[in-house]
Amino acid sequence: MTDLARIRADFPILNETVRGKKLVFLDSAASAQKPRPVIDAMVHAMEHQYANIHRGLHWMSERTTDAYEAARDAAAGLLNARDRHEIIFTRNSTEAMNLMAHSFGRGMLKPGQAVVISAMEHHSNIIPWQMLRDAHGIELRVAPITDAGELDMPAFTALLADGKVGLVAITHMSNVLGTYTPAERITQIAHARGAKVMFDGSQAIVHRRIDVQAIDADFYCFTGHKLYGPTGIGVLWGRRELLDAMPPFMGGGDMISSVSYERSTWAEVPHKFEAGTPAIIEGIGLKAAIDYVQAIGYDAIAAHEAALTDHALARLSAIEGITIIGRAQDRGGVVSFTLDRAHAHDIATLLDRQGIAVRAGHHCAEPLMRRLGLDSTARASFGIYTTPDEIDALADTLTKIREFFA
Ligand code: ALA
Repeated sequence: MTDLARIRADFPILNETVRGKKLVFLDSAASAQKPRPVIDAMVHAMEHQYANIHRGLHWMSERTTDAYEAARDAAAGLLNARDRHEIIFTRNSTEAMNLMAHSFGRGMLKPGQAVVISAMEHHSNIIPWQMLRDAHGIELRVAPITDAGELDMPAFTALLADGKVGLVAITHMSNVLGTYTPAERITQIAHARGAKVMFDGSQAIVHRRIDVQAIDADFYCFTGHKLYGPTGIGVLWGRRELLDAMPPFMGGGDMISSVSYERSTWAEVPHKFEAGTPAIIEGIGLKAAIDYVQAIGYDAIAAHEAALTDHALARLSAIEGITIIGRAQDRGGVVSFTLDRAHAHDIATLLDRQGIAVRAGHHCAEPLMRRLGLDSTARASFGIYTTPDEIDALADTLTKIREFFA
């Protein structure tokens, strides 16, 4: 990226040292670092413009409501949603998927219908559907992956053949393998069989422009903290007519039209799904993050991360004993690997001694690990601030770690 030095200067934490070494942060897929405009927007709101929203008739409340609702417009623009009311704020992707399982699952699916997920889902896109299966008599089907770590499209298509599938709930980019799933083909196949499609875009939206209309999705969710925004705020986008038909998820203040002990009625979307005081400051931070990402532009981000990923795959593959886990053609900036018989936790610990942060373990994807015949991997993941030098530092240190284990 031409402006890499300027971008890095926006992230104060990148100046930190860890154990006396310069921080090399290669764990952005777990949570990304925050740029100055996000930090400043949140601090500014707390210092100058803060009150509860949607209820107040005073200046502070009105201004804060405007600032928070601007995040809804920003998220609608980011996803190319038709209508800002289609943006539901949640705590994170996990809450979005639980909302879907409760509201769409119990409200729109009938016992005997099926939900299809894939073999490369995060636990957050497995457990809510398992809970729905057990409580509501929904069948859970799992679309397999190929040895390269791509969705097995013939097998996926076959799972939908009997017309019983009401929903496909699938990752748009694996947090372990880096694989993108072919979103447009998935929606075509699913819609031809009468199924709706929800994408878990937690990873994909960080690296690639998302257009929910172009991919013809029905639902799409992401979380703010991986997109350089704060924790505690995420987004579920859904088609208006589906959201209108779905029952609420949580009950409480803000989500009602009227309340009596006998009967209550619900607010219009999005408020029907947003019970209680929301993450106001975090919403303001999310808007700043979306603006920040869009100012850099997804073309530049995707090109930068593709170059980093190619560089990482080339450097790591050249180290004897390293096996790259996941060889999809269409992939993003996440590289999982194993090193001979060294446990991933030991690799991460030794990298950390050099100030290099990676994630190690099952990455909240135990069934995927079992499919791969592994119990864990080490994972390096890249962001807009990652440099080729940092990948070289990873590769050089891994070479030394291998010598140490040998
Ligand atoms: N889902 C996050 C990760 O993959 C936490 O690390």
